[in-house]
Amino acid sequence: MTRTQVGIVGAGPAGLTVAGLRRRNGIESVGLEARTRDYVGHRIRAGLIEQGVADLLVAAGVGDRLQREGLVHHGINLQFAGERHRIPLSDLTGGKNVVIYGQTEVVKDLIGTRLADGDPLLFEAEDVQPLDLETDRPRLTYRHEGEGHELECDVIAGCDGFHGVCRASIPKGVLRSFSREYPYGWLGVLAAVAPSSGELVYAHHARGFALLTLRSLELSRLYVQCRPDEDLDEWPDDRIWEELQSRLALDGWNLAEGPVLEKGVTGMRSFVVEPMRHGRLFLAGDAAHIVPPTGAKGLNLALRDVHVLSEALAEWYRSGSTALLDTYSSTCLRRVWRAEHFSWWMTSMLHRAPDADDFDRQLQLSQLRYVTTSTAAATSLAENYVGLDSV
Ligand code: APR
Ligand code: PHB
Repeated sequence: MTRTQVGIVGAGPAGLTVAGLRRRNGIESVGLEARTRDYVGHRIRAGLIEQGVADLLVAAGVGDRLQREGLVHHGINLQFAGERHRIPLSDLTGGKNVVIYGQTEVVKDLIGTRLADGDPLLFEAEDVQPLDLETDRPRLTYRHEGEGHELECDVIAGCDGFHGVCRASIPKGVLRSFSREYPYGWLGVLAAVAPSSGELVYAHHARGFALLTLRSLELSRLYVQCRPDEDLDEWPDDRIWEELQSRLALDGWNLAEGPVLEKGVTGMRSFVVEPMRHGRLFLAGDAAHIVPPTGAKGLNLALRDVHVLSEALAEWYRSGSTALLDTYSSTCLRRVWRAEHFSWWMTSMLHRAPDADDFDRQLQLSQLRYVTTSTAAATSLAENYVGLDSV
């Protein structure tokens, strides 16, 4: 049996950021991750960070490379009916922006810091079980390198993603869950070619949604709407480019093609559990909520949760007050629901549902015309996109 202050399950962006507590507040923790370090460090995921979240990473001492290599964006484009319209995010939000910096890079930076700080982070931890959550001595049992271990904690941070064990360890009847499945997914590619647009392009098209984004000045990231269970074998690179070319086509503009380095299918769902806490277990990130990727809120929400949790834990260890821990769930959920609505709204406005009729299509086009012509409507999109400070 070993002891720590905070037991962290999962080493995705949420868990790794909780791990940064030591650097800022002197709080010690042990991280337990089911996968290998290599696997965790190479997952290709989202890549757009709200300015406020970038600031949190900098303040946490893990933002050096992000500040050097992140690409600051001041606008995005919405394309529909053969035209591309720019939403000037910064002009509409008093100068706020978003930063393009891959989640893969965030994770690499966080792992580097964590290992440098010297607190344990165990990869390939098997059979992790959160226990005694309703007591003031919760425990994590697990197996590592063939041996059984037990870790006694003050609190447990459940950062083990949507399929993790933490949410599942909360007794039946405690949580209320809300969800929506979408009848489509995204087929994403990472391509070794300079992005053809300096700013993101979200395209509404009769063949389905497409998105042009980027990871760097040499790497493009592109997505096409597909079926949620799409078989990648049916998508040789030529077919993907053909589909991207037709959905992103614009008079006088060319989409440059390049070698495809990676491809995968992402499902789309909305999901929230309430509350995000049970006893001494605090859920953060994908363990508590999922958004569809349109609007890129997943990573941002995860890091915001962890910020609220870190402040609450720091306050508790400093003063003994549980006030911030007690409001953790309600504080996070206000932002979560705002992001749930925004992501659902962006998704509904831009995708082609299999059962959509002409009426649905006209509503989408009207909404797109509205957000690209009315300053009030564009401002609403922009302030949600860059991340609201108060929700
Ligand atoms: N024991 C230990 N670790 C586990 C277990 C388990 N039983 N189950 C899952 N994990 C690990 C996963 O292997 C993963 O590394 O928990 C981690 C969860 O990480 P993420 O899924 O990345 O979730 P989170 O840190 O909340 O980050 C949310 O990542 O999924 C994207 O788009 C999403 O951007 C969002 C962000
Ligand atoms: C990405 O860069 O992967 C990305 C950007 C914006 C989105 C979704 C994904 O809305």
